[in-house]
Amino acid sequence: MSRADLIAALSWQIELGADEAIGEHPVDRFAEQTTPATRAIGAMPRAPAVATPAEDVARRAKPETADQSARALAEAAPTLQALHQALATWEVSELRKGARNCVFADGLPGAHLMIIGEAPGADEDRQGKPFVGRAGKLLDRMLASIGLDRTSDDPANSVYIANILPWRPPGNRTPSEQEVALFLPFIERHIELARPKLLFTIGNTPTKALLDTQTGIKRMRGRWRRHRASSLPLLPSFHPAYLLRQPSEKRLSWHDLQALRRVLDGEAPRIEG
Ligand code: URA
Repeated sequence: MSRADLIAALSWQIELGADEAIGEHPVDRFAEQTTPATRAIGAMPRAPAVATPAEDVARRAKPETADQSARALAEAAPTLQALHQALATWEVSELRKGARNCVFADGLPGAHLMIIGEAPGADEDRQGKPFVGRAGKLLDRMLASIGLDRTSDDPANSVYIANILPWRPPGNRTPSEQEVALFLPFIERHIELARPKLLFTIGNTPTKALLDTQTGIKRMRGRWRRHRASSLPLLPSFHPAYLLRQPSEKRLSWHDLQALRRVLDGEAPRIEG
């Protein structure tokens, strides 16, 4: 292959989302499927060979569609730990194959405020925790500005953070509507088990998903709504990654944070719609 061919092949891989080297040597995953399972492979997390809870529930519920399997699995999880395990071992989504870690949550379960983002990026995928990259650092500063800290063990001052998708989409692309719909039962159950008092959705994807709307974040932000599944008050606002690109929008974001603070302090939210 010429140098130009090699560069073209590399660009094509990056476009497909293979934008990071994770091992010294390439592994042919297609060939691997026909070789004995004992063959040593890289450090990618794999599901155990025994029947996983995900497989058990799927078998018992005999789901006809992936959506039913997701719902049955999510509803069968009695604890956050069980839900994490179910998500990590559920093999229906192709996203799982391209990611390193199932990014479940961070912060304090039971915190009064639950923040819901879109999907992990490269840093989150590497560390297995949501919002640890550049956008996450800005989120931490935004929360600190209203006295919240994900490392606090006081439910009133801490937050609990999760995403709509637990797996990183290749190349950090926006998740498709099908992907969001597939994982929706899991985040709905996640909210139920985490028992927050308020929800804060950041960005288009979680706002549209949880409010079942096509209206964009610019029109939705700053207005309290009710999350139908849990009946909890929900405030949509901008995603910190958007604020990094559009710092002039931080002014509106600050309004939203102050509104959040007032409601956390006991003011009744004025819920629209
Ligand atoms: N963006 C998100 O929506 N979630 C993360 O966890 C990181 C970046």
